[in-house]
Amino acid sequence: MTATQALSVLVEGDGEPVTDRIRRDRSRLRDLLTAHGAILLRGFEVGGVDGFDRTVRELSGTPLTYSERSSPRSVIKGNVYTSTDYPPQEEIFLHNENSYQAAWPLTLYFHCVEPPTSQGATPLASTRAVYAAIDSSVREEFERRGWMVVRNYGDEFGMPWQEAFNTNDRAKAVEYCAGNGVVAEWVGENHLRTRAVRAAVHRHPVTKAPVWFNHATFFHITTLPEEVGAGLLEMCGEENLPSNTYYGDGGRIPDDVAEHLRTCYRAASVRFDYRRDDVLVVDNMLASHGREPFTGPRRIAVAMAEPSNA
Ligand SMILES: [Fe+2]
Repeated sequence: MTATQALSVLVEGDGEPVTDRIRRDRSRLRDLLTAHGAILLRGFEVGGVDGFDRTVRELSGTPLTYSERSSPRSVIKGNVYTSTDYPPQEEIFLHNENSYQAAWPLTLYFHCVEPPTSQGATPLASTRAVYAAIDSSVREEFERRGWMVVRNYGDEFGMPWQEAFNTNDRAKAVEYCAGNGVVAEWVGENHLRTRAVRAAVHRHPVTKAPVWFNHATFFHITTLPEEVGAGLLEMCGEENLPSNTYYGDGGRIPDDVAEHLRTCYRAASVRFDYRRDDVLVVDNMLASHGREPFTGPRRIAVAMAEPSNA
């Protein structure tokens, strides 16, 4: 298995229920997912939101609740969510879901309910390929120092802490942080600042290969469109940015390093156009995902499963 092997593999059906196929072929599908990083189930009957939920259960078990949020999502039903509610004209940069947390989902599911008119793909980039492409001195520095995410939650900046932590109880939000390796600090009555230091490189639990698994690039201020980043800096000041990243010891990540990392992600990125009822299954540690800008309706349901700390 090499990092250059095709990242996603297409599994085509002839209209049969996708859960029937999974039941019959479960271990092969799991093997394909681990070998490639993603599988695209196409041409199956999914059966709406309930069918999508059953699909997740059939291949992974119970879908997870979305906690310690960083992006706005709405619940469709149970633990099935909309993909990020974010302006269609904006790109969402490649990332691994919740890699800034102490634990994360190992498997992600995307269900195309309504395809976009143009673009709107979920691009994927192999975390092994990104790891291999990063300049060794840059990589070693991150391996040594780790990375830190600083986030601000408040009325004026970022997302309300109540939404991020799913509670209106200040003590509960702080308790969650304490239990999950996050240092929390109340800066104002309704302004919570958090810091979390994490490893930049992890080993895949099955293949044991090193993977570039972090949000150091995604949350870095320079990954935002230039005018947005500049506007935020002027409005909030660096310490109050909704999110920003540093080395684990608090040192600044130079802008050219962040640019190099973005280049490595983009070079590894592959894409396909969604068709109605496509189900994309992603190994969250082997593949990072993003979102292209799009036109048209685009409704993609998302579910997460298999917590890394199970
Ligand atoms: Fe995501």
